Amino acid sequence: MAQINDNYLKLKAGYLFPEIGRRVKKFAEENPTARIIRLGIGDVTEPLPPAVIEAMHKAVDEMGQRETFRGYGPEQGYDFLREAIAKHDYQSRGANIAADEIFVSDGSKCDTGNILDIFGLNNLIAITDPVYPVYVDTNVMAGRTGPADESGRYSKLVYLPVTAENNFTPDLPTQKVDLIYLCYPNNPTGTVATKSTLKKFIDYAKANDALIFYDAAYEAYITEADIPHSIYELDGARDCALEFRSFSKTAGFTGTRCAFTVVPKTLTGLAADGARVDLHGLWNRRHTTKFNGVPYIIQRGAEAVYSPAGKQQVKALIQFYLENAKILCAGLRSAGLTVYGGVNAPYVWLKTPRNLRSWDFFDELLSKAHLVGTPGSGFGASGEGYFRLSAFNSRANIEEAVERIRKAV
Ligand code: MLT
Repeated sequence: MAQINDNYLKLKAGYLFPEIGRRVKKFAEENPTARIIRLGIGDVTEPLPPAVIEAMHKAVDEMGQRETFRGYGPEQGYDFLREAIAKHDYQSRGANIAADEIFVSDGSKCDTGNILDIFGLNNLIAITDPVYPVYVDTNVMAGRTGPADESGRYSKLVYLPVTAENNFTPDLPTQKVDLIYLCYPNNPTGTVATKSTLKKFIDYAKANDALIFYDAAYEAYITEADIPHSIYELDGARDCALEFRSFSKTAGFTGTRCAFTVVPKTLTGLAADGARVDLHGLWNRRHTTKFNGVPYIIQRGAEAVYSPAGKQQVKALIQFYLENAKILCAGLRSAGLTVYGGVNAPYVWLKTPRNLRSWDFFDELLSKAHLVGTPGSGFGASGEGYFRLSAFNSRANIEEAVERIRKAV
């Protein structure tokens, strides 16, 4: 008899977004005439930038000619893309990251889960709370946690609450942890980390021989000066941090799939015999064994994001979603709601009215306003009483959503 991985049985019922999908589907079946506006999952709505499309078309043509056809590419990504990333995302910001420290992949969701393959089961993990659920669930699946309690918190995970009370700035763990997940601009709260917050975590990581998994999938949304776009803008980060980035929210690649992970060659971890082992080599071994690379056509599209035209078009795309976020924030405030985020991120995080529980507000908005958001408690116990709205939608839908919320709350 094939035995299952029992750790899966510890997982809470469903992954958050499929659970939302299930409830929305039921509502839609029962209310077939309702025009539902979806501001739940952060999925982009605007088409790919023309520069990306043009580059992909050209790459498609190359694939149709014997002379320029490509089969397997390098698993780590083509040099043209790795070099463009190193130059435009890092070196131009004074961050000392080389092209061969970049691993191109099919998504940050996959990478943040897959990276755990190279780490032992006894690491103690710290996460902020609320948090992107993938960080938690992948550790549960791997067996790094005990069971969940009633609030959904797993034993053996260290939770760092981020709420209005601490201005969404996590305190350092009070105990020694080995791995810390940080996501900035933050999903779900839409808030950012200042240099001094990141420095505090880097100092902690170095003092405790810990590693930081830094998820910067939303860095392109940063509008305020002095907010770091990469953790490598800070001294010392090369010795204690990996960084995850994605073209999904930057350039509309959620369906196209292209992302990357930076593993500096200066990072090490501890083997059972006490030896220090280079993490870049380990991740390279894992990546090249289990992954065959992102398609050439897609990587050419991603490269075009860094062309002068691509940069301009991506900027316009981001500005469009940020304007949506601004409209959402203003509309919600005028409806009397307390709102956070939305300035350096495509997510707006609000306090539920009348102290409603997050899922109750979800049901109320769905039934009264035919509007879908994401319950804060789905991101963790400290998200209870909060609610997330995504700014990824058409302008017309965002404006209508604001009107519907105004009437509903
Ligand atoms: C979200 O809504 O939190 C994101 O779309 C999830 C993701 O990027 O996987």
